[in-house]
Amino acid sequence: MTEKQTWSQRFESALHPAIARFNASISFDIELIEYDITGSQAHAKMLAHTGIISHEEGEALFNGLEQVRQEYRQGQFQPGVDAEDVHFAVEKRLTEIVGDVGKKLHTARSRNDQVGTDTRLYLRDQIQQIRQQLRNWQTVLVDIAEKNVETLIPGYTHLQRAQPVSLAHHLLAYFQMAQRDWERLEDVYSRVNISPLGCGALAGTTFPINRHYTANLLHFDNVYANSLDGVSDRDFAIEFLCAASIIMVHLSRLSEEIILWASEEFRFITLKDSCATGSSIMPQKKNPDVPELVRGKTGRVFGHLQAMLVIMKGLPLAYNKDLQEDKEGIFDSVNTVKACLEAMTILLQEGLEFRHQRLATAVTEDFANATDVADYLAARGVPFREAYNIVGKVVKTSIIAGKLLKDLQLEEWQQIHPAFAADIYEAITPRQVVAARNSYGGTGFEQVRQALVNARTQLSVK
Ligand code: ARG
Repeated sequence: MTEKQTWSQRFESALHPAIARFNASISFDIELIEYDITGSQAHAKMLAHTGIISHEEGEALFNGLEQVRQEYRQGQFQPGVDAEDVHFAVEKRLTEIVGDVGKKLHTARSRNDQVGTDTRLYLRDQIQQIRQQLRNWQTVLVDIAEKNVETLIPGYTHLQRAQPVSLAHHLLAYFQMAQRDWERLEDVYSRVNISPLGCGALAGTTFPINRHYTANLLHFDNVYANSLDGVSDRDFAIEFLCAASIIMVHLSRLSEEIILWASEEFRFITLKDSCATGSSIMPQKKNPDVPELVRGKTGRVFGHLQAMLVIMKGLPLAYNKDLQEDKEGIFDSVNTVKACLEAMTILLQEGLEFRHQRLATAVTEDFANATDVADYLAARGVPFREAYNIVGKVVKTSIIAGKLLKDLQLEEWQQIHPAFAADIYEAITPRQVVAARNSYGGTGFEQVRQALVNARTQLSVK
């Protein structure tokens, strides 16, 4: 640490180099640089607009900041650790470019309202990018679902075969989760998009600033009503991390299913070479690394949510340096969610194939049609609980005899209950079992076709 800090006049001696490194956030908050510049440009315009500085000065600051942006983009400006943080780095470079007028930029603001503004501008962009990725993800799910309305797959509860379902229905469950994620982020956005700029260090400012003017320039929907709250609120970050965590829950659940489906035990899918990896020792292996990584990366996003909650829980008003710890978790969560959405979208789109032959066999080799036998009797006047008990006994004796329900003779059925007729065989075919569940939101083919139409309509909302 050779250079003195911006605030060093009040201090007798320089910061210990290790403490300077400990204190500095430039290594990660550099991510905010373009948002910092944009926020400062709005602030400079406002200072000129309100007469706090002259129009010429405002213009010099605005153009100087634009030059900092260009230099940064072209790799000519790379702030080092001596800059402490991105805000000092930009101001310092600006002052080198425009001279003393650069020192007027920080009039009527603080790094506290500044960093809050930058973080919100960043998150706003990222939320829109993630929402777009969710749309791509949903589109791929619907594309595959549309081709698989009549593909049947065992449906599970407790990971035990329960009732067969349409594969499209199964995929559309994930579509619905992603739809909620998309809507949730829209809601989070509405609270991210409030401007803290002009809250100053904590109490506002003595200058006749216009907070709505900067908010308008930066396309914020509103301004924080209370300056103490404005500089110290991180609810928007917690909410974002929560929304990000829920996205990861959804991706991780599907990942788990894909891992199971790809196993020798299930054999419901094959992974294509473009999205699977081999083992360094076992030549026969083809590993589902993509869904495993997605499942694994879920942990870090949950961790960032937990960290943010803990950072906030004991903070007295208003700004405390603890808040500098918000950024890495936010950045890492954004990057993780984006990477996972991209990988899963590619995996579904081109990295796996459903094994239709195997699925067709799978749905005929169990007792997943037992409910339908009970429903058959119940529809013919037998109270459901009684029908349930009757079928329970049939399943038990069939297992002992090594038979499935479809193997029973008509006489056997009629000995069990006289209400059984020849149409029982059709009623318990997997296709009929699925088709019959035509209640709203069920897996019946008619319902699924309607759900696909609805999904396309939902996707048309941008
Ligand atoms: N780097 C700081 C942060 O990320 C900027 C705000 C510093 N404010 C202060 N009063 N020291 O939170």
